[in-house]
Amino acid sequence: MTARIIDGNALSAEIRSQLAERAAALKTQGITPCLAVILVGEDPASAVYVRNKVAACEKAGMRSLRDVYAIDVDPALVFARIAELNADPSVHGILVQLPLPKHFDSEAVLESISPEKDVDGFHAENVGALMQGNPRFIPCTPYGVMKMLESAKVPLKGAEVVIVGRSNIVGKPMAMLLLAKSCTVTICHSQSKDLAFHTRRADILVAAVGRAKMISGDMIKPGATVIDVGINRMADGPNAGKLCGDVDFESAREVAGFITPVPGGVGPMTITMLLANTLEAAERTQARGKK
Ligand code: GUN
Repeated sequence: MTARIIDGNALSAEIRSQLAERAAALKTQGITPCLAVILVGEDPASAVYVRNKVAACEKAGMRSLRDVYAIDVDPALVFARIAELNADPSVHGILVQLPLPKHFDSEAVLESISPEKDVDGFHAENVGALMQGNPRFIPCTPYGVMKMLESAKVPLKGAEVVIVGRSNIVGKPMAMLLLAKSCTVTICHSQSKDLAFHTRRADILVAAVGRAKMISGDMIKPGATVIDVGINRMADGPNAGKLCGDVDFESAREVAGFITPVPGGVGPMTITMLLANTLEAAERTQARGKK
């Protein structure tokens, strides 16, 4: 059996063209959706992500602001900028690229973003709303995964889901979203005993650990849906430097029913859902203005 590919580029293109139409409609009302992105330091991967996010905004007819700070910046400057963006009615979404340097209190930074502009969905208030099943903003990567499962018509009710990774950005919110769809959810992590025992039970396997090719075909149930959230660079061998996921694609595709590739899978969907959240935030300001 060779798995069917869930193509994140194709699905992104479809959703982004719908978003561009909505953005254009909003512009006729005098509102241009605007995302502000803050980057601290020069981590090359983070710089690429931020560049891609800004470019995607422009392409969808949205405005973006980008503030880049030196790695040793005084956090007070960043807090001051966030306060300014919170107060600016022309800014609808604010995103601080993670990870932040060690001298930052990341939690305090995320809490300083207005929950109404927290398009990442990382503010405690928004995390709580998601847990209660009433999300204000759904974190972009899990949101993108849900769209991919929907597009492939993967049955969710009663499905056994195993998520490998317990991060606040992916693993935990992913679990909440799938639980809300009546999946039976198991979260595995670095201390889990016998990882393969869990993964082999999964109808839907979500890999979000950040370790290149750690999930191999023999760890996958035949016919399962495999979602690969990892974006890693291969350390050595003939493909050194090339991107790969947390899943060993070649062996996994022989066993799985559906699989997402890396690159071209979850990655573009994350940015697409960031655009969706920014647009949503802008549309809400319009709705509030009409009340
Ligand atoms: N770093 C890795 N993923 C993300 C994300 O989705 N949002 C932010 N802000 N930082 C990240």
